[in-house]
Amino acid sequence: MKFDIKQYSEELDKLGIEHEFIEHPEMVEVEDVLKYLGKTKLESFSTLIMKADGEYVAVIRRDDTKVNQGKLRKQLGTENVKMLDLVEFEKLTGLPSGAAHILSSVDRTLIDRKVFASQYSMGGCGSLSVSGKYKSDDLKKIPNSMVVDIAELVEDSIGTIHVGKRILSGITPSGNQLHIGNYFGAVAPQIALQDTHDTHYFVADLHALTTIHDRDKLETNITGVVLDYLALGLDSAKCVFFRQSDVPEHSQLAIVLANYISYGQMKRMHAYKDKLQTGTSEESINMGLFNYPILMAADILLYKPYGVPVGEDQRQHIELTRDIAENFNKTYKTNTFPLPEPLISKELGRIIGTDGERKMSKSLGNIIGIFDDEKMIEKQIMSCFTDPKRLKATDPGRVEGNPIFIYHDLINDNLEEVKELKERYRAGTVGDVEVKRKLIEAHKIKFGEARERRSVLEADMGIVKKILEDGAKKAREFASQTLAEVYKVIGETNQLN
Ligand code: TRP
Repeated sequence: MKFDIKQYSEELDKLGIEHEFIEHPEMVEVEDVLKYLGKTKLESFSTLIMKADGEYVAVIRRDDTKVNQGKLRKQLGTENVKMLDLVEFEKLTGLPSGAAHILSSVDRTLIDRKVFASQYSMGGCGSLSVSGKYKSDDLKKIPNSMVVDIAELVEDSIGTIHVGKRILSGITPSGNQLHIGNYFGAVAPQIALQDTHDTHYFVADLHALTTIHDRDKLETNITGVVLDYLALGLDSAKCVFFRQSDVPEHSQLAIVLANYISYGQMKRMHAYKDKLQTGTSEESINMGLFNYPILMAADILLYKPYGVPVGEDQRQHIELTRDIAENFNKTYKTNTFPLPEPLISKELGRIIGTDGERKMSKSLGNIIGIFDDEKMIEKQIMSCFTDPKRLKATDPGRVEGNPIFIYHDLINDNLEEVKELKERYRAGTVGDVEVKRKLIEAHKIKFGEARERRSVLEADMGIVKKILEDGAKKAREFASQTLAEVYKVIGETNQLN
């Protein structure tokens, strides 16, 4: 028997649960669906069906958590709690497994409180190609439901990372304006980690010297990155946020680490090889660029992080970092440096550009900005490709894979509106212009606050300066300990003891 999405939608409407359905290619794993939709596990939930003393209980938990069985038993007041397997589930409901259709077939529903941390949450619908987006608060309207604290964190948006572990990443001040592809693909997941992990993020200003030799440009770029992150929600109370050059231990450790890696290995690094490809001769390669991976290894190893969230292009550098750490540990028979894990979410970074063809990227000119002036953003949205087969507003259009609707799903939190636009687009009763105008409005709502915050900070750089000073102070507390430990291990102890 197939799940009747229309009937389910009506049931939700009756209960007053704001929702929208998002279609996607058929996918079995929650992770894959989330990646496709540019969402994280902090914004999605799963429903587990339990049998407790003969009663059927649905448990809704966020996808980065697991249910604490002890707490659940206590909540239900019985030791006799068992999770239904797929076969039992289908027997109970007559439906394939999934989150949604449980409303009418269970006796009660427990919802873990963490689900409400995100305004909207994604949930499956018992179909592999449709997911629901629900207003989280409205889930409280499920009949016989109650909010409880029965889940604990196990995972996060990037993979299986245990909570509280240290995460570190560097952001190169490249000077590119941030676009929504960077935001949904990298910045938002990075910032989300601050709620669940011991996060350390820094602006890699010394790395920028490999390419930028203009003082004003460097300063502008650094300020730009700092303002972007703070405006978009990086919270210096939760995350240690600093500038690399404010923590001299990075440079000091790099000098030491250079001794535990060979020239041969360094020559195999992509950043260096790519440069040779562009026609620069080996003789004229800038040594900063050549040594860059060693500085990066120092950046990482100073903080002994569990994981380093980076783009695929940085994988090789994390591997080199592990090699250096291993070689160092082996040489001195210590375990000074735990080996860091690369945390790479390939698909997450790939949000389609306004040309409807390639990944969104500044150099391809297919971006939608975040902090550009309003006229510019309007222009970017108005020139976005849509359904190429649709010639007139009265032709039925395609919603799946259509960039303008991908952006609506990401940006527009007015689910009713998105749903209605999609319906009308499919029916040929709405023009591209209206869909785009609505996206412009949604962009203003989604990023209005961040834009405002950015200009407030820009007008009072004293606050920003203070944040970076405090961040550097905290970072140094840790970094100086590691450096002292390293000096001791290698025998450079005169100045320090
Ligand atoms: N090289 C990284 C990039 O270009 C930035 C970076 C510098 C970094 N140091 C780091 C990232 C340490 C992670 C950890 O994206």
